[in-house]
Amino acid sequence: MPTCHTAAPTPARKGLFLSIEGIDGAGKSSHLATIAQALEAAGHTVVLTREPGGTPLAEKIRALLLHEGMDARCEALLAFAARRQHLLETIVPALEQGHTVVSDRFTDATFAYQGAGRGVDWVALEWLEQWVQTTPAADSPHFQSPDCTLWFDLPPAIAAERLQKARTPDRFEAQTLAFFTNVAAGYARRAQQAPERFCRIDAHQPIAQVATQVRQCLAQRGYLSGPTTPPVYA
Ligand code: TYD
Repeated sequence: MPTCHTAAPTPARKGLFLSIEGIDGAGKSSHLATIAQALEAAGHTVVLTREPGGTPLAEKIRALLLHEGMDARCEALLAFAARRQHLLETIVPALEQGHTVVSDRFTDATFAYQGAGRGVDWVALEWLEQWVQTTPAADSPHFQSPDCTLWFDLPPAIAAERLQKARTPDRFEAQTLAFFTNVAAGYARRAQQAPERFCRIDAHQPIAQVATQVRQCLAQRGYLSGPTTPPVYA
C-alpha cells in the first residue's frame, strides 16, 4: 500500500499540480505515461512537464546542470532559475486554465540533490523556495507548490544496480552510492516536513505492483473522480 493522505486543502487556484520524485533509478519515468493516462481517462487535461526544464530557456539550463561541472551553490541557483521560468511560462498559466500539471521532479529534487547530496544549506534553499515560487497575482501573491508529490522510494543500492544496466549516465547518475544514500535521506526529510503533500510509493516492487500503488494514491486523493475544483478561501 502507498503511504498517502487524503487530499489536503489546495490554495485558491483552478488546476491541480502534481510532482513526481525519487532518486535516479527509482523508476519514476516508467510510470509518468501511466499517471498521465489515468488522469486523462478521469477527465483531466494533463500538461506533462519536467525539471530542470519545461521551457526553452529552462531546457538550456538543464543541459548545463546535467553536463557541465560546477559548484554546488551554482547548481542550486541554476535549478531555481530554471524553476522560476518554468513556473511563470508553463506551470502557472496551465493551472490558471484549470489544467492538471504533472512535473517530473520539482523543488524536492533541489533539497535532495543539492541540499542533502551536495551539502548546500537547507535554510538557504528554503529561502530560495519561498522567493522563487511566489508568483504575482491580481489580488495577492501566491506561493506555488505541488498539491501532491508521488515519491518513488527505493533503497539506493537497488537503484544503483538498476542504473548500471541503463544508458550512459549524466553527471548525477554517475554519482556514488554514498551520494544517493544522502539524496534518499533528503527526500525522506522533505516527506517528513510535509507529510500531507507526499505520497510514498514503495518502488522496490515489480512494475505492475508499483503501478497499482500509483493508481491507489491518485484514487485516495480523489483525483480519479475527475478534475477537482479546489475550495476558494475568503
Ligand atoms: P531525471 O529527472 O532523472 O531525468 P532523466 O530520467 O531524463 O535522466 O534527470 C534530472 C537530473 O537532475 C537528476 O539526476 C536529478 C537532477 N536534479 C537536481 O540535481 N536538482 C534539481 O533541482 C532537479 C530538478 C534535478
